[in-house]
Amino acid sequence: MSGPAPMRREIETLADGSAVAQAAAELFVTRAREAQAEGHDFRVALSGGSTPRRFHALLAASPLREQVDWAHVQFFWGDERCVPPDHPDSNYRMARETLLDAVPVSPEQVHRMRGEDDPAQAAHAYEAEIGQVFGLSQGDVPRFDLIYTGMGPDGHTLSLFPHTAALTVKDRLVTENVVPQLNTTRITFTTTLANQAALLAFVIVGADKANALAEVLQGAYNPQQYPSQLIAPVGELRFIVDQAAAAKLAPQST
Ligand code: 6PG
Repeated sequence: MSGPAPMRREIETLADGSAVAQAAAELFVTRAREAQAEGHDFRVALSGGSTPRRFHALLAASPLREQVDWAHVQFFWGDERCVPPDHPDSNYRMARETLLDAVPVSPEQVHRMRGEDDPAQAAHAYEAEIGQVFGLSQGDVPRFDLIYTGMGPDGHTLSLFPHTAALTVKDRLVTENVVPQLNTTRITFTTTLANQAALLAFVIVGADKANALAEVLQGAYNPQQYPSQLIAPVGELRFIVDQAAAAKLAPQST
């Protein structure tokens, strides 16, 4: 049995982490241009973890840096750790150091989750901030132009970890999530918000992800165990992966 199907799903398998970073960075440029051609700011949610560092660095440097109209980008995060913004574990800090400090964006364009606050309060505040930036009416679900996310070796994505409460939260856009396996609480997009995306891109590199990726894409539908299976955006779902992460995938029938 399989889960909900996105409108379109594409798996892009590239040679290595460098090629994945290049593709992920070029996707940002392409989608930013498309949003601005449609006459609105580019609303993008960045991912946490370590994988985004490489493609952030490519966006922060020539030639890609010059190809983005940075004044019309609205930055969000798909999840955050419950730490202050200058903490080494902060997803915001990682993005600030690898991208935001190097490009001409104003503070008003950067919408971080307040990991330093009470998680439940921070989640509600973030929903309000998203609503304000998108100009939403109560109950609307915003459609991000692009949501980046990663995947852990356990098949988690965003901060939707196996067997955690947030997996079944459908009436919120953003929620706090107690993660016993990490002895922590996170703040995360829900599947309701993630699955409204025009395009959601998993960026996955490394052999340690191979088992989970094969289970997520080709295994039995078991989203409590493999939460990445819950991701099925109304728009396009793209997996940008390297050969090491794709090593356990069976060849696709045409
Ligand atoms: C986080 C991320 C998380 C991450 C995966 C992959 O806050 O940690 O949002 O979902 O994307 O754990 O992390 P790596 O890129 O470090 O492998």
